[in-house]
Order: sequence, then structure tokens, then C-alpha cells
Amino acid sequence: MRVFIMKTAEEASKTAADVMEKAVRAKPELVIGLATGSTPLGLYNEMIRRCKEDGLDFSRASSFNLDEYFGVRPDHPCSYRRFMNENLFDHINIDKARTHVPDGMAADIEAHCRLYDKMIHDAGNVDVQVLGIGSDGHIGFNEPTCSLASRTHRIYLTEQTRRDNARFFDKLDDVPTQAITMGIGTILESRTCLMLAFGANKADAVAGMIEGPVTAMNPASALQYHNDTVVFIDEAAASKLKLRGYYDAAAAAAL
Ligand code: GLP
Repeated sequence: MRVFIMKTAEEASKTAADVMEKAVRAKPELVIGLATGSTPLGLYNEMIRRCKEDGLDFSRASSFNLDEYFGVRPDHPCSYRRFMNENLFDHINIDKARTHVPDGMAADIEAHCRLYDKMIHDAGNVDVQVLGIGSDGHIGFNEPTCSLASRTHRIYLTEQTRRDNARFFDKLDDVPTQAITMGIGTILESRTCLMLAFGANKADAVAGMIEGPVTAMNPASALQYHNDTVVFIDEAAASKLKLRGYYDAAAAAAL
């Protein structure tokens, strides 16, 4: 993993946008993996700005989102489809027909999950996968103890995740108990993973992901087996790392 510790989330988001911009310019038909939550919003705003002001062209790109709540309609105010439309797709020139989010209302969930994996495979796999991390170490919605080889699947959410995400809903009881998520095995097939994490409440999860043993108790630690993961974090999220000096020296040498 390459770890870049930035002064602010804004700086980290802009640097992540540089990686995204370079990838889209090098390969206009880029297959982008996308995440929801507060963390990628700075990156998405920067992608929007660069599309509008700098002509960054997404017209030939396609996207696959990591996850969606189970039993939630795409037009529900808290659906991840709606989140993506409102926070990114409506503001860049991507063809919405080529944006994919798992269908939380699929009649046959197993078949839908298999199809989602097949669509990713048929698209040539994800080139750049944007990732956030849950305070319990989840990526997508792969919760602790989830198989590190998992494919797209339905998962039961932890109480901690439901509490963390309750801010997007009127009340905790409204947060769905299940979701559909790309599996960790699916995520590991992406060519580049762009992990973003900000704030002190991510510090334990981030330390486990980067320095902890690979364990299903911290699903993000599986990224230690991925050969091109770039981590952009702020000071607070980096506060529990032991090898801080090493990351800074390596980053300075790389930049
Ligand atoms: C949700 C999403 C994850 C995301 C996580 C962190 O659970 N399924 O993909 O990384 O939240 O969210 P936030 O960025 O809001 O902290």
C-alpha cells in the first residue's frame, strides 16, 4: 500500500482527483468503481469541477457502485442510486445508462448478485475503485467476519454501521438492516484502489487496514493483498499509525 498523509481532507481529495483525472485522460473508457458516504464527496466535487471547467470528459466512462441498501427503491431519498445521481452523475457528462448500482429491490437477489459480478467482468473489471472505510473496517458493506474472498452478495449490517449511517435517515429504525455489496474478492480484482479516510473515528480502522494483520475482523486489511492500493488520509485518520515517519519519507520520495 502507498500511504499519503495530507494536512486536510480537501488536499487529500484533490490529490485523489489527480489520480482519477490522469486515469480518465489516459483511458477515456475507464471503468470507475464508486463509493458512497461523506468521505468521497470532496473527490466527487473536484471531479465535477474539472469536468465543467477543465473539460475532463467522462462521456465514454462507465461506473459500478460498491453497494446499495436492500429493500430500498432507487428513487428513495436514502438510496445509494439517488446519492450518486445527486452528488456526481447529474453534474458530469457520464452516460447514466453506463452507471451501475446494485438493485436493492431485485426479485432474485442471488441472480442479481451473480449478474452484477458478470457485468463487472464483462466490462473488463474496474480500473479505479474509490473506497471509503467504515469505523469497523468495512469496505463497501463487507462487515467484519465477511469472507475475504467474497463476491457480490447480500449482507446483514452491524449495529455500529447502522448507527454510523443513521445520520442520513430520519431515525435509526429507518436504517435498513441489510445491503447488497460487491464482495472483497470483487474489489480486489480492481486494478487500482483509491482509499480515502478522514477523521479520528476512522483512526483504528485505518491502522488495522494498513498495519494490522490481515483479518476478516478488519475487512479493509484484505487490501494488503492488492498490489496497487493508494491511501489518502488526513492527520486525524493517520493518528494511530506506528510507521508514520516511514510513510512521510516514502511519500516525499515518490512525489
Ligand atoms: C457506508 C458505505 C461505505 C463507506 C462507509 C463510510 O457504510 N457502504 O462504502 O465507505 O459508509 O462512510 P463515510 O464516508 O460517510 O464515513
